Amino acid sequence: MKDLFFVLLIFVRVIASTSSCDSKTLTFNVVSYGATGNGHTDDTQAFVKAWKDVCGATRNNAKLLIPNNKIFLLQPLSFKGPCNPATIEVLLEGTVIAPESVGVWKFLDERRKWMEFSDICGLVIKGGGQIDGQGAAWWNSVDVSNRPTALHFHNCKDVTLSSIHHKNSPRNHISIDTCNSLEISQIHIIAPEESPNTDGIDISGSSNIFIHSSTIQTGDDCIAINSGTSLVNISDIFCGPGHGISIGSLGRNGEDARVEEIYVRNCTFTGTSNGVRVKTWRGGEGYARKIRFEDIKVVGVKQPVIINQDYSVDMESERSAVKISEVSYRNVKGTCSSDSAVELSCDPNVGCSEIVMDDISISKEDGSVANASCTAAQGTCSHCNPIVPCLSTFKPL
Ligand SMILES: *[C@@H]1O[C@H](CO)[C@@H](O)[C@H](O)[C@H]1NC(C)=O
Ligand SMILES: *[C@@H]1O[C@H](CO)[C@@H](O)[C@H](O)[C@H]1NC(C)=O
Ligand SMILES: *[C@@H]1O[C@H](CO)[C@@H](O)[C@H](O)[C@H]1NC(C)=O
Repeated sequence: MKDLFFVLLIFVRVIASTSSCDSKTLTFNVVSYGATGNGHTDDTQAFVKAWKDVCGATRNNAKLLIPNNKIFLLQPLSFKGPCNPATIEVLLEGTVIAPESVGVWKFLDERRKWMEFSDICGLVIKGGGQIDGQGAAWWNSVDVSNRPTALHFHNCKDVTLSSIHHKNSPRNHISIDTCNSLEISQIHIIAPEESPNTDGIDISGSSNIFIHSSTIQTGDDCIAINSGTSLVNISDIFCGPGHGISIGSLGRNGEDARVEEIYVRNCTFTGTSNGVRVKTWRGGEGYARKIRFEDIKVVGVKQPVIINQDYSVDMESERSAVKISEVSYRNVKGTCSSDSAVELSCDPNVGCSEIVMDDISISKEDGSVANASCTAAQGTCSHCNPIVPCLSTFKPL
């Protein structure tokens, strides 16, 4: 009995000491690793060394501190896991900038990412700092396929990214690939309206994504959802200028694309070329389904509601297409800058099914009636202004 008590006592002590030790966050400041933060000296190696220690820390929580009032010039770098701590916090208080001219970039591999986080479970990035991709040198001089993505997440789980300013990526600002459980909020992404391919956030092959309370103003899609993605919620987003929020393009080059359970709510589009769009390529396979757009405000948007299932009436052409079904639009209101408030262009051989529109009111900016066009879409429309011709009008019993 006495022995047992003694063993228990030791056991309790061990637990108590490890937990009190683990609960203390270890902080690794990049400046302690030799980063100058003067905006001119290459600070990449200091970040690489600091990350090695953060990732290897034998604690539950470790923090990488990128301090305030400093500008860190960084070459492409990889923050790779798996890491020891259950949660790693990257506290970005200062600014990180990419090299200014194209020729001096030193890529890690042919995939061309600037900052890549991969194979990490439990990552928090926040701090009110800024990411500047210095994209201007790339936009009109290098082919898009050779331009780098600024911030890339690959094979990560339980990630939150918040309170960050992110500007002028050479290509898309944030790409998320093969991740599960990721939340983005309180971010501001900005690049000139005429900067090419500067998507805000691109998602592919990922699930359980929540993007909210943010402003995205770029030269391409504010958010694009691509193949292999499901369970995405997007809410409280200001989008524009830009190309809107897009499912796709899906099915390019015969791709078997699968996207489902997407919920876009309470978003405002100002001066964008599209509002909410579903776009697929002819010859693709798979589906885009269970997609909800709710409480959408459009202000001077060229094409507020658009489904484009790229098709050809040419009988010789490919018959396959990505199936589009169960897409609903509720409470979509505002103005369009073209004649077209709603365009549902579906493949006559495949069609779009179970399209539900309810409480739609979009007029031209001068207040006159806008147009809705429709090919091979099946579904219902209630309280729709303009009326969408191929959807049946819902008549209450
Ligand atoms: C998305 O919203 C639905 C309905 O509000 C909720 O049940 C679900 O947990 C949310 N998912 C994410 C990933 O935010
Ligand atoms: C809609 O979004 C705006 C802007 O982010 C926010 O202020 C408002 O609370 C949101 N409304 C609802 C009902 O979620
Ligand atoms: C409106 O849409 C219909 C059907 O697609 C089309 O025939 C017509 O030309 C459009 N009108 C305008 C003003 O764009």
